[in-house]
Amino acid sequence: MDKLRIRGGVPLSGEIRVSGAKNAALPIMCAALLSAEPLRLTNVPNLRDVATMAKLLGQMGVSANATPGGYTLQAAQISSPLAHYDLVRTMRASVLVLGPLLARCGEAKVSLPGGCAIGLRPVDQHVKGLTAMGAEITMEQGYIVARAPRLRGVRLVMDLVTVTGTENLMMAACLAEGTTVIENAAREPEVVDLANCLVAMGARISGAGTDVISVEGVSALHGCDYTVMPDRIETGTFLAAAAATGGRVRLTGTDGSILDSVLAKLRESGAEIVVGSDTISLSMMRRARSVSLRTSPYPAFPTDMQAQFMALDAVAGGTAVITETIFENRFMHAIELQRLGAEIEISGNTAVVRGVEKLQGATVMATDLRASASLVIAGLVADGDTVIDRIYHLDRGYDAIEVRLSQLGARIERVA
Ligand code: EPU
Repeated sequence: MDKLRIRGGVPLSGEIRVSGAKNAALPIMCAALLSAEPLRLTNVPNLRDVATMAKLLGQMGVSANATPGGYTLQAAQISSPLAHYDLVRTMRASVLVLGPLLARCGEAKVSLPGGCAIGLRPVDQHVKGLTAMGAEITMEQGYIVARAPRLRGVRLVMDLVTVTGTENLMMAACLAEGTTVIENAAREPEVVDLANCLVAMGARISGAGTDVISVEGVSALHGCDYTVMPDRIETGTFLAAAAATGGRVRLTGTDGSILDSVLAKLRESGAEIVVGSDTISLSMMRRARSVSLRTSPYPAFPTDMQAQFMALDAVAGGTAVITETIFENRFMHAIELQRLGAEIEISGNTAVVRGVEKLQGATVMATDLRASASLVIAGLVADGDTVIDRIYHLDRGYDAIEVRLSQLGARIERVA
């Protein structure tokens, strides 16, 4: 199993290009199920989750051809509206096929994803919404079995803000009869990117990016060319790494306008940040100051950046209080950071991080994607060698992270 070996102590310096957004690319790939015509995507990141999604769609009869920087997907016919447990268990985003399959085929059988390292993560809101739209849904041997000759538009009020739940229902509503209104919808930029792609395919959607999304159903969608938005979490991860190491970096191919809460926290920590039209430059000329934060749905601070900021706070001057409100078990990285010398106390959903002058390299274990990213940041600032085991988590969401950090001067290598 691959590991990363990092020799810390080098301030990151230089320029790299940010990848397309994983959490936009995955739902957009599922949108291909809604049309018989080709969906030509560019700026698709080269990630394990993207390959898994292409494989999952392939099992349903969708042709998925990799192109330079992207994929062309065509669901001319769907041979089998089934998402098997074997793939779903490796990637929870697989549940995003449920809405489109049901809308296009009138039936779907999708494995329940089960729990994962960061929390229980039920899909009751997806099921509840589709049921309200007229689907008959049963749970059979670990599978969601859904049937609906044609979904019908209704007003849905979500019990909580769910990103993939909003995306699943928005996709299903595109081919429903009548208008669906999703209230308490997720406002994440990735939901907006999916909506923009669906509109380019002929869908009639308004309100994406607000908490009320309205979808007027149409009888069919057509193909289109679409460029996936930049990854705001990858952007934030590189910026946090640069800040923690006292570096100076310029990121290109990104979008500062969707990172307000993260940039505000980096500025609070003492970083100087300049946002261009598609670039962000950061320089950190002093030891970072501790920043307290609380995760919440967009536009507030993203849960997907919480672990990386815990690594930054671990070496900052002062004490930070980090509160996680989205997932109930998303502090697994704290225990590994402690192995590197971080001073962190956890109580329920709150972590108190007392910054130390230095971390010391050690062998640590990645537990989930963003936890892995926080360990990489900690390794970059630690004295001596840090070895991170189980980096397959990292490969799910960061394209060749060791290559790109090397371009910024980091001493990091992948070892078998
Ligand atoms: N929830 C329910 N019932 C539901 C759906 C969600 O109780 O039917 C709960 C979840 O358990 C969680 C909260 O609602 O406590 C929010 O979960 P959400 O549904 O928004 O998360 P998600 O859609 O499964 C996406 C991202 C995650 C990201 C979260 C929150 C994708 C593919 N995944 O997950 O990304 O953390 O939104 O922003 O878009 C990652 O990239 O590392 C990652 C985990």
